[in-house]
Amino acid sequence: VQVEKQGFRHFMLKEIFEQPGVVRTCLEAYISSDWSAGENDSSSAIPDQNPVAGDTPSITTPIQLGLPESLYENLEHVQILACGTSWHASLVGKYLIEQLAGIPTMVQYASEFRYAPSPLTRNTLTIGVTQSGETADTLAALEMEKRRRIGLGQEYQPRLVGITNRSESSLAHLVPHIIETFAGMEIGVAATKTFVTQLVVFYCLALDLAYQRQTLPPSRIAEIIAGLRQLPSQIELVLSRQEHYLEELAHEFDETQDFIFLGRGINFPIALEGALKLKEVSYIHAEGYPAGEMKHGPIALLDSKVPVVAIAMPGTVYEKVLSNAQEAKARDARLIGVTPMHDPEAAQTFDILLSVPVVEELLSPILAVMPLQLLAYHIAARRGLDVDQPRNLAKSVTVE
Ligand code: G6P
Repeated sequence: VQVEKQGFRHFMLKEIFEQPGVVRTCLEAYISSDWSAGENDSSSAIPDQNPVAGDTPSITTPIQLGLPESLYENLEHVQILACGTSWHASLVGKYLIEQLAGIPTMVQYASEFRYAPSPLTRNTLTIGVTQSGETADTLAALEMEKRRRIGLGQEYQPRLVGITNRSESSLAHLVPHIIETFAGMEIGVAATKTFVTQLVVFYCLALDLAYQRQTLPPSRIAEIIAGLRQLPSQIELVLSRQEHYLEELAHEFDETQDFIFLGRGINFPIALEGALKLKEVSYIHAEGYPAGEMKHGPIALLDSKVPVVAIAMPGTVYEKVLSNAQEAKARDARLIGVTPMHDPEAAQTFDILLSVPVVEELLSPILAVMPLQLLAYHIAARRGLDVDQPRNLAKSVTVE
């Protein structure tokens, strides 16, 4: 398929602007349109014990991922294997699976796991996340995990699922179940729309687990689903409000050599992703850090030449992030805040505001990453770099 830039200067920018659409597509693929919490209280939510193969389940469930029920049976652990940006999506996935469905979840770099696997755990769901479905380390780690479980007792049997944007990839030959992300072809080497759709899949998976295990009441599941359905139009709003602003702002970083990105909780992986995007396309050194850890090292780097980008979303760690940002300000750092719109406290703290619509903390990562993608893009484009094909990087790394 010939993919065109459709008037955008680079594929990366075009793909950033495709995000409202692909998030919508992915949500529509997995969230039932005919489920409502009222009709499905927890007593009627127990799935059919003996479904006939091929039959549609008799009770509508909120999320339909097409996975067999046996994958969730007696589940005790989830382990996620991935590289690069997919590893960042997996960290958000861990947060969601642990906080919504209460299942202990490990996230490992596939390249590390393959040579030092964690001890075997029982009744474990193993998820490989790779947008291309071709990353050599991720495939090898999954293969190894599958092999070491074969021949062991029932509770150790491999339960493998892949999350990918390429359902025809090598990953699909390796694992029996695929959850597709429906992002469409991504040309820019720096992942954008494939990342946010991986996040959408993790929301769906965590909600499905929470529903099946009854760790959340249906009314809460309905509330989160309603929030997810707002995201496409909220993403659109962020992109349209900030595109020109960030293009202008990029001028201010012509001489900048280092950036620090801070986040906490569910937005710590978004800080990592913001830093990675900037490194990948602009070649500026950037570090993502959990805001509370800044005092254990990165604070030594701060001065007026090192901008700090803090993701400060209302919720459990909001005040904490604001006070971490104040500490950076006291070292003369230029402070950029990804903050909720119309928030006087944020306006007082930060020098530059990249504001997004107010949503509950749980749903904020998808909105928070938008300005960070645009920031990385515009700094790189302004420097005249090859944004879609950064030096030394490949879209999929099929060698070790
Ligand atoms: C490469 C790409 C990254 C990507 C990583 C993992 O390094 O440049 O953008 O995140 O591979 O790719 P995957 O296809 O496994 O998600």
